[in-house]
Formats: sequence, structure tokens, C-alpha cells
Amino acid sequence: MKEQTSQKDIQSLFAFIDNSPTAYHAAANLGKMLAGEGFVCLEEKRAWEVQWGGKYYVNRNGSSIIAVTIPDKQPRGFHMTAAHSDSPCFKLKETAEIAVDDLYLKLNVEKYGGMILSTWLDRPLSIAGRVVFRGEKGMESRLVNLEKDAAVIPNVAIHMNRDMNKGVEYNPQTDMEPIIGKADARGTYLRELAKQAGVAESEIQGTDLFLYNREKCRRIGIDDAFLAGPRLDDLECAFAGMTALIKEKPAEYINVCAVFDNEEIGSGTKQGADSTFLKDVLERICGRLGIGAEEYRCMLADSFLISADNAHALHPNHPEKADATNRPVLNGGIVIKYHGSQRYATDAFSAAVMKDICNRAGVPYQSYANRSDIAGGSTLGNISTAQVSVNTVDIGLAQLAMHSSYETAGAADIEHLISALRTFYRD
Ligand code: CO
Repeated sequence: MKEQTSQKDIQSLFAFIDNSPTAYHAAANLGKMLAGEGFVCLEEKRAWEVQWGGKYYVNRNGSSIIAVTIPDKQPRGFHMTAAHSDSPCFKLKETAEIAVDDLYLKLNVEKYGGMILSTWLDRPLSIAGRVVFRGEKGMESRLVNLEKDAAVIPNVAIHMNRDMNKGVEYNPQTDMEPIIGKADARGTYLRELAKQAGVAESEIQGTDLFLYNREKCRRIGIDDAFLAGPRLDDLECAFAGMTALIKEKPAEYINVCAVFDNEEIGSGTKQGADSTFLKDVLERICGRLGIGAEEYRCMLADSFLISADNAHALHPNHPEKADATNRPVLNGGIVIKYHGSQRYATDAFSAAVMKDICNRAGVPYQSYANRSDIAGGSTLGNISTAQVSVNTVDIGLAQLAMHSSYETAGAADIEHLISALRTFYRD
């Protein structure tokens, strides 16, 4: 039975990731999931109608989304999870087309976030994002996705660089431009995207377009022990957080799942974890429920945030990169992340709470810390607590090749995370 649930969750996760080539698509698909379960969409520019026992979601910028479920009675605080909707990729620049000697048409692109450049070479790529145009009620935005193997970034042949296997330094301007056709294909991709958006090409006033890896998610391993796909960091955690929130009815706490855009570029945008988005949503919800400022402060002091962003698994070929004693593995359960200088927000208290949640859910947990001589990455927890200061634990699922265009994780772990988060939301 448990194996069946896990299969179903993995298939749903794969469908979600395959259909979410950009943060805009991820937020839209999460919104659809929520609307299908009876959640009401609240628009930030209108006054909110909020009821006890209600379920709501708010979308900011089309790329960040916060869902909230409210109990029937006065809550003690908030039980919150956070994840991110964006992943490292290439963004198309304005006037992106470059003809090469009347032979090829290339695209001028720039890095979005810190990716492993080589993983974008020699594989089918496509273009997705949003286009903005003047509609009847002002500026309107539409999601677009070419859904075609439209581009490739070709490597240089080994015959032209015999030292290639000693390591290559890729220049993001000159080495990473994809070809999208012959020189006379100029204008085609914008025309196709305009057609898909249902507007004339000349009406499009703005675009946020990205390259994405066309490879689909799949199971990997002779025993199917692993799963692989693009954007596992952090769509796995975004999917698990929303799935858990949808499945559990809140009892004593207001349950919240926040999925923020722009984690990969520092979270400093109006819709990022360092914005007022979460604070605005919590304050407005409480205001409409008649919860006063003093009660709201008391609730924050009795709240908990699980910041969920994938973690580095022990690498089979490079175990020396892992810490001496904190070495998470694929399928080993929830990874609790620690950092002495608090780039991960975990402390003794929040770690103990997280372990207790895992124990009650019957889910294994493990720990991660950087080697003391490796700087490591950052995540959402310590950033969002600058805006909404609550007890926070940083966790994630173990994965390999973080920020590759195709990443690998443990097939059993998605079920581990959903179970743990359901237990958290339930009590
Ligand atoms: Co991440």
C-alpha cells in the first residue's frame, strides 16, 4: 500500500516538474492544484474576504505562491513550510537573435543563478516563460512554452581542443549561446510564442523567456532506487509542501506553504523570500479574521517554519567532498542542515522539533554540514526569518549534481518528505 502511494506521488511529481519549465509555470501549476482542491484565490490588489475554516492562495508576480488553510477556531500560531520555484537556467536577452555568417541563428543569453554550465551542452533545449502585452484591462501576462526541441548549445569537437578532458573553462557569453535554426529562421520563435499567447507579435511589449532542458523526469537504477530530472532543486520540496498542505485539515495552527521565486539569485526581489510577501499575507489574513496586533505577535512566538530546499548527498566518486561525520545519502530520509554561522537557520531547538516530527511520522532523518573548508550554499530559512522572525529549521532531500540541468535524487525520499510535512501540518 505504502509502495503504491509512493508510486502515485512520484508520477504526480514527474508530471508537475515536466510541466513546469519556469518558475511562472511552477506557480501556475501549484495554483491549479490548489484551485482544484477548493482553495480560493486572493488578489493582492483587492480587499480580502477571509473566513474561519477557509482555504486560500495568493500569487505574486506570477512566480511566487503562498497557500493558507485556516482552522475553525482561534489558532495558536502558524505552521509554515517554504520552498523555491526557480532553478538555475539561461535567460534570453532583449533582441536575442544573432545571425552567424548567414548560416546559423543563435540566441544571446545570460546566466540566471549558478549552474553547472557544461550540463547545458549537447542536449535538446526549448524556450518558455511569459509574454506581456496591452490587453483590454491594462498590461496582461500569458505563459508560453515552445514545447519543441528548438535549441542546442554545441560543444567544440575534441579534435579542436585536445585538452578538453583536462577541464574546460566555459565563457557564458561566447560558449553558451544556443543555435535555434538557420539564419533565415529570424523572428520565428517570437512569432510562435505570440501565436501561442493569442496575440499579434507586434503587441508583445515585454518578455521573461528562459531556456529549459527538454529531458523528462524518470526513474534510474537497476532497482529503480533513484529518480532523475531537471529542477529537482527545488520543485521536489515545493511539490511536497503543497501536497502535504492540501491533504491535512488544520487543527490548532494556521497552516501555510510558501513557494518563493528568485532563491537562486539571492531572494532580493519583490516576490522573493526577502520581500514582504509572507509578512503581508499573514498580517492581512489575521487582520480579516479579527486577530489583533498583540495576539498576532503572540502567535508568531508560537510558530514554526520548515524551510525545505534540497541538500547535497554523499557523492559516489567524491566522498572526500562530504563532511567527516555529516554525510547524507539518497533515500536516507529528511536532511536537517546545520551551519555554525547560521546560513542555515537550524538550531538545537528547531532540530529537536524536526526530529520529533520525523519520529512521529515514522520517517528517517539525517544531517548535513559543509566541510569546514568549503563555503557551501545558502537557502531560504535565514532570509525569510529576517522578514517574519519565527523558529526555523532548514531541511531538504538529498540529491546529487545540484544545479546541473539534470539532477538525481532518491525515489523513496519524496514520500518521506510528504509524510513528515503532513505530520507537521496535522498537529
Ligand atoms: Co535550492
